[in-house]
Amino acid sequence: MISRVGFITVLFICACVISICLFLSSRPTRSAAAVTFNTDIAPIIFTNCAACHHPGGSGPFSLLGYQDVKKRAKQIALVTESRYMPPWLPEPGYGQFAGARRLSDEQIRVIQQWIAGGMLEGSPADLPSLPEFKEGWQLGEPDLIVKMPQPYSLPAGGTDVFRNFVIPIPVPKTRYVRAIEILPGNKKLVHHANILIDRTQASRRSDEQDPGVGFSGMDVAIESERFDPDSHFLFWKPGTVPWAEPEGLAWRLDRGTDLVLNMHLQPSGKPEVIQAAVGLYYSDQPPTRYPMLLQLERDGAIDIPPGKKDFVITDDFTLPVDVDVLGVYPHAHYLGKELEGFVKLPDGTKQWLIRIRNWDINWQAVYRYEKPIFLPKGSVISMRYSYDNSADNPRNPSRPPKRVVAGNKSTDEMGHLWIQVLPRTQPGATGATVATVATTDLRIVLQKELMQQRLRKYPSDFTAHFNLGAAEQSEGKIVEAIEHYRLALRAKPGDVAALNGLGVALLNSGKPEEAIVYYRQALSRKPDYADAHYNLGNLLLAQNRPEEAIKHLREVLRLQPEDAGAYNSLGSAFGMQGDSTQAANYFEQSLRLDPDNADVHSNLAQVLATQGKLTQAIFHYEESLRLDPDNADAHNELGVLLANQGKLAQALVHFEQAVRLNPAHANAQENLKRARQRLK
Ligand code: HEC
Repeated sequence: MISRVGFITVLFICACVISICLFLSSRPTRSAAAVTFNTDIAPIIFTNCAACHHPGGSGPFSLLGYQDVKKRAKQIALVTESRYMPPWLPEPGYGQFAGARRLSDEQIRVIQQWIAGGMLEGSPADLPSLPEFKEGWQLGEPDLIVKMPQPYSLPAGGTDVFRNFVIPIPVPKTRYVRAIEILPGNKKLVHHANILIDRTQASRRSDEQDPGVGFSGMDVAIESERFDPDSHFLFWKPGTVPWAEPEGLAWRLDRGTDLVLNMHLQPSGKPEVIQAAVGLYYSDQPPTRYPMLLQLERDGAIDIPPGKKDFVITDDFTLPVDVDVLGVYPHAHYLGKELEGFVKLPDGTKQWLIRIRNWDINWQAVYRYEKPIFLPKGSVISMRYSYDNSADNPRNPSRPPKRVVAGNKSTDEMGHLWIQVLPRTQPGATGATVATVATTDLRIVLQKELMQQRLRKYPSDFTAHFNLGAAEQSEGKIVEAIEHYRLALRAKPGDVAALNGLGVALLNSGKPEEAIVYYRQALSRKPDYADAHYNLGNLLLAQNRPEEAIKHLREVLRLQPEDAGAYNSLGSAFGMQGDSTQAANYFEQSLRLDPDNADVHSNLAQVLATQGKLTQAIFHYEESLRLDPDNADAHNELGVLLANQGKLAQALVHFEQAVRLNPAHANAQENLKRARQRLK
């Protein structure tokens, strides 16, 4: 029985309240001859602007026709020269990103020449064909479409709204998702959306506690049982083609999972109703490669005096393994100015990851590299962010400027650089030998190093100790795990996740009685903590206390009605009490939710055998062995049933298998001997 503990992932998703346009004085114009809209301007606009500036697009007006562009020509010259449009923050030459949208200096000059030359239309024959825009799903019809359960009413005015909508995903069995797309209804209202995957159903409860549809908040913390799919950037912005994961990088979607749509909504001037639909695109292929998100940050050092112009924070991380960098997601609020991410390679050379000279939170995005960037073990990844808290910063939300510290409000600041990497399990270029660490999940190695770095920045930090506890635990280093959980509890006394984690570690070190104390402490602080109920229920079961176990396992199902593991444990508990009808019933429920669980098949087979339902019992043993051919007990028990049906030859095969798999299996040896004798 695997106990449930988790890592803590926190996604900070932030506020943007004001949108600011930059007004620059126009330069003296140059004389220009035959620059026309049809020949020179339309191709620039169609390629770089039309994706948003078309009827129904996210831009405030269409720029498809000559008149549309002519009418706004001056403004277009300004916003292109200032590089406010097209919105694209990364500086060229500091990272090659897929889907980069940036005008060349030449294109900007041509627009100005066109205006200076009188904004000629040119010959209709020269006009390129209008770009076509598909309404609806950009990647074609999704495999599954889910909708916000109810529409949300966005008021006409006021500040931006950050709202989280919980959408249960009705998948009958595990699926692998390669792309996700959002149809917001009205594109102009949704600035961007982050999608989080919640396997714990905790968001449902936040939703219930908040009146109205969804729940408010800029950041959501979700405790995750494993790294995927939390290490995928699930990010959506209007005007961009949704991202499809490359081969082998689909992420896992389990039954009973909720999708949390964290949306940044902008009031439009009139009351609006939003009911976004989310499309999921499946892959047949389970993932073969697992990325990891590394977070560089220095929130703890953010304390910016009012008026301070160039406040700098930095963070460094030394890679403990070889990785390929797939993408980056830089993040700061309104005071962020220059955002830099770079690497010092082991040979001393500098490699840029990203450079943003003029940060604008309104255009924040995930940037993915055209080609992954290889970074060898020992590379030092750094971030350097500067902030402008003076009145000269047009985006400064406080007038006059005030002291600013780290926090989630739009008037607070943040400094994060998320880096998505794929650890290399095999040595790079030569590829001749398989790395010795291939059996270790390299993400755990990365996680441990990240958390050690966190401890160097913030000694006695809760998150660092908690995650180190979980990492050590997953590697079977129980003594270390216990130590970190205890330090986590010292940092945050009574934290229920740490109490639960410590319980699991103590159980694994052979101290069930102490484990029970911690589980009970967690539950007295948080009576609806499903994982602690699950762990305590299973522990009581192992101690032959089915009656008490049933109480806790039923609680799990009340909180998580789709929990296949709880159904299985309940089946065992009733089996222990001799109630084979209930036991069979619960095992069947478990299989309905998780049909490929070999253990549950053999549990059910065992109960069916005691009920005398031999044919069904044989069927489930066979299923169990199909899914897990190395289970000696299942071979032995199947052999017994077959022998009782007189199928001695078949029985013999299974006894042989059982003995081969476990030569010390006394029953199987005895059965094998008898079967051989009877077959003589
Ligand atoms: C990714 C979508 C997107 C692309 C691409 C895009 N725009 Fe925009 N544009 C917007 C949105 C949204 C706004 C309104 C919000 C704002 O002004 O910040 C806007 C605003 C504008 C404005 C008004 C600015 C102001 O001062 O109010 C102009 C002019 C403009 N865009 C021109 C262009 C031109 C020219 C291009 C191509 C070179 C372009 N845009 C590309 C989304 C886009």
